[in-house]
Amino acid sequence: STYTASITAPVNIATLKYWGKRDTSLNLPTNSSISVTLDQADLKTTTSAMASADFTKDRLWLNGEEDLQLSQSKRLTQVLSSLKEKRRLREAKDESLEKISSWFVHIVSVNNFPTAAGLASSAAGFAALVVCIAKLFELDDDMTELSKIARQGSGSACRSLFGGFVAWEMGSLADGSDSKAVEVCPLNHWPEMKACVLVACADKKDVSSTSGMQLTVKTSDLFQKRIDEVVPERFEQMKKSIHDKNFALFAELTMKDSNSFHATCLDSYPPIFYMNDTSKKIVKLVHLINAFYNETIVAYTFDAGPNAVLYYLEQNELKLMSFIYAMFKDLNGWETKYSTEELNKFI
Ligand code: DP6
Repeated sequence: STYTASITAPVNIATLKYWGKRDTSLNLPTNSSISVTLDQADLKTTTSAMASADFTKDRLWLNGEEDLQLSQSKRLTQVLSSLKEKRRLREAKDESLEKISSWFVHIVSVNNFPTAAGLASSAAGFAALVVCIAKLFELDDDMTELSKIARQGSGSACRSLFGGFVAWEMGSLADGSDSKAVEVCPLNHWPEMKACVLVACADKKDVSSTSGMQLTVKTSDLFQKRIDEVVPERFEQMKKSIHDKNFALFAELTMKDSNSFHATCLDSYPPIFYMNDTSKKIVKLVHLINAFYNETIVAYTFDAGPNAVLYYLEQNELKLMSFIYAMFKDLNGWETKYSTEELNKFI
């Protein structure tokens, strides 16, 4: 017999960045982080899994091709063995459960966006994988419990187990049992919050976040101040800005944290550049837009790649889009939502 399960997991984009590990094998971070999980309809990973007594090894297909490197990676084997162990414990307690924990699984995962272009594909990917296998194994763990397993696959993945506004609490225990994702606020607390991705370049990034952050931890002098002083204070302030729905504060903290993270990258030796000239234009543009309207209506943030994610409130969408349209004369499909006349209204 076989068991199957299928689910989707959305991408999350950090507004307070995770950058640095204090334990590379358990994947424990040097700071807590906060993110917003994007709408399921937009950027997501769809994962299906099948367990069968006939399979001879665990196998994984990513975007239509078998990924032998990832299948054999420590990350994946660690995640799968943690989930199999949880299933084994259930089987030991409940005689009626079939002993599928010793079976192999086949996993098929598809992203609807460019992989490894700094668009948090590993986040959605490992989140989808963990939730899918947990469903396959009929585990009854809550999302926070599962987030500790997802974290071992990819740190940022632990935050994609929740929708809305999510914190990854770094924890302090050596075994990582308190390093987990928790919900700050559900999406319906602040449903006006919207995100838009500006793809500056869809190529694969050159320095992976895993190796980039290791280099920063080892070589950057700015980094210590960031994790000792800057982030702990920002973590509390940002949670409060979300609770209070204070967009201006949320936006300022988000932009400052993106800049602080990229500053530690530049301060690494040799330096790491994730933002390109288009990214820098976007930064200038956002500050220009906020100055023009004399109100903070938009925030940018950049992960380990040149693509921007902009956060804004729905009521300001047209104001934002007209500016972007004026600058780039291309809205990549958004033109169908707004007429040229509307887009030219403000500028
Ligand atoms: C810049 O989660 O990809 O996107 O734990 O090594 O897999 P690993 O790193 P990863 O790093 C994400 C870094 C970031 C910031 C963030 O998402 O918080």
